[in-house]
Amino acid sequence: MAISQDDLFKKLVAHSKEYGFIFPSSEIYENGLAAVYDYGPYGVELKNNIKEYWWRAMTQMHENIVGIDSAIFMHPTTWKASGHVDAFNDPLVDNKDSKKRYRADVLIEDALSKIEDKIRKEVEKAAKRFENFDEAMFRTTNTRVVEYQQKIDAYETRLGNAMKSNDMADLKAIIEELECTCEVSGSRNWTDVRQFNLMFNTQLGNVAGEEGKLYLRPETAQGIFVNFLNVQKSTRQKIPFGIAQIGKAFRNEIVARQFIFRMREFEQMEMQFFVRPGTQVEWYNYWKEARLKWHKMVNPQEKLRYKDHDNLAHYADAAVDIQFEFPFGFKELEGIHSRTDFDLNSHQKYSGKKLQYFDPELNESYVPYVVETSVGCDRMFLATLSNAFQEEAVPDANGEEASRTVLKLHPALAPVKCAILPLLKNKEELTAKATEVFNQLKIHVKCQYDEKDAIGRRYRRQDAIGTPYCVAIDFETLENDTVTIRDRDTMLQERVKIADLPGIILAKTNMAQLLS
Ligand code: GAP
Repeated sequence: MAISQDDLFKKLVAHSKEYGFIFPSSEIYENGLAAVYDYGPYGVELKNNIKEYWWRAMTQMHENIVGIDSAIFMHPTTWKASGHVDAFNDPLVDNKDSKKRYRADVLIEDALSKIEDKIRKEVEKAAKRFENFDEAMFRTTNTRVVEYQQKIDAYETRLGNAMKSNDMADLKAIIEELECTCEVSGSRNWTDVRQFNLMFNTQLGNVAGEEGKLYLRPETAQGIFVNFLNVQKSTRQKIPFGIAQIGKAFRNEIVARQFIFRMREFEQMEMQFFVRPGTQVEWYNYWKEARLKWHKMVNPQEKLRYKDHDNLAHYADAAVDIQFEFPFGFKELEGIHSRTDFDLNSHQKYSGKKLQYFDPELNESYVPYVVETSVGCDRMFLATLSNAFQEEAVPDANGEEASRTVLKLHPALAPVKCAILPLLKNKEELTAKATEVFNQLKIHVKCQYDEKDAIGRRYRRQDAIGTPYCVAIDFETLENDTVTIRDRDTMLQERVKIADLPGIILAKTNMAQLLS
């Protein structure tokens, strides 16, 4: 059953809440806190599995990558050195009537995508009118479409230049020229555009004023940079080597939308790979390929693509995003950045401490170059969940057409690997046997015991949370110690011996399936 992308997204958000994957944070208070979410019982299992897949792919599959877990709070000079105090800004504009706050560049991009919609409509109209319609030809020859496209191109170039040169006045001028209106007040009554720093800050208890100002880290990477020598010396790593970390990051996003795609508190899985200066291009290409491969084990190739950065961050000499086709279009899932020696150099300068590596092969010391891979755990969660979410027509118990919602998650990532279901709830022989099987299996994999409702409904509940296998305990089980095992995707059932269950389920659901 095909569903539109818009519908899919709405259903996904509703499904996430109904089935205990994601809840809006502190929702009981006026619908909660915008752009902050809590992971429910199945959400946390799926998220932990994603983290395990990343962690093992990095630290277990590479002998030269080790992990750390650095603190969220860091010395405030860290953020001066990293450039975040001065340069981690978004351009902000307020509507004076509604007081609603917008990111100026997003407001402009939204206005340009409305012009793109007009082009799309012209193309659709023409496609209906002409047989053998040549869309490429139409786009380059139809006067109205050409004008629209020229307008988009001109404003995109201007937007890029204004962002690069911090030209807030020109951003305001573009907003006025494109007649951007506030979605709440409907007015075009805008304040000037100004820079807004995205870091959250707080205060140390025992130090008053500016000196006691602390930041919540906006990326986990800096905890790796400042520990570079601690790790290298304590593990005696030789370059090239990497340091991996999973942890929370915080950004005071002005526009927070699209569910867990853009949050104010989120989790990153970052790895900094330290290399000899001059070899960074080679390693950048290596990690670009390796990271795409990692994604392709979980999500289909056609939903993944590279997008080179047009505007490089202050620390990078090359950068590419791995984009995923979310229900709202292709968007950044992971960033791979060649960060040069910017961060280590800058920390050396601000701390006055040497952050150099002595290369025994070259017999010289240098500040290593760094290639970074950085993927948002929550975005990976959203990508995986939206790809897995399906509505299917299936026959019900009487053979009539019905439908089911199923999460076709990779078995190694599924929150629950196996459900144990006694055929009937009120037959003690069956429930006792099912409990015995459950107790044997739970040592090996995350299992769930469920006896409530007809077995068909229980299968649907497990499909909805993505459980790859359901084991039914029936009267034949009592005679010969066999059970039926149902595959979530094919819905086929096979009879197997209870003694074989751990082996069968482990073989299909363990992380080696993804790592091999
Ligand atoms: N250390 C580099 C760095 O932080 P980034 O592109 O700003 O680079 C890396 O962030 C990844 O973190 C992104 O690709 C995205 O997956 C995730 N991310 C960034 N901001 C986010 C937000 N507000 N909510 C959820 N995930 C976010």
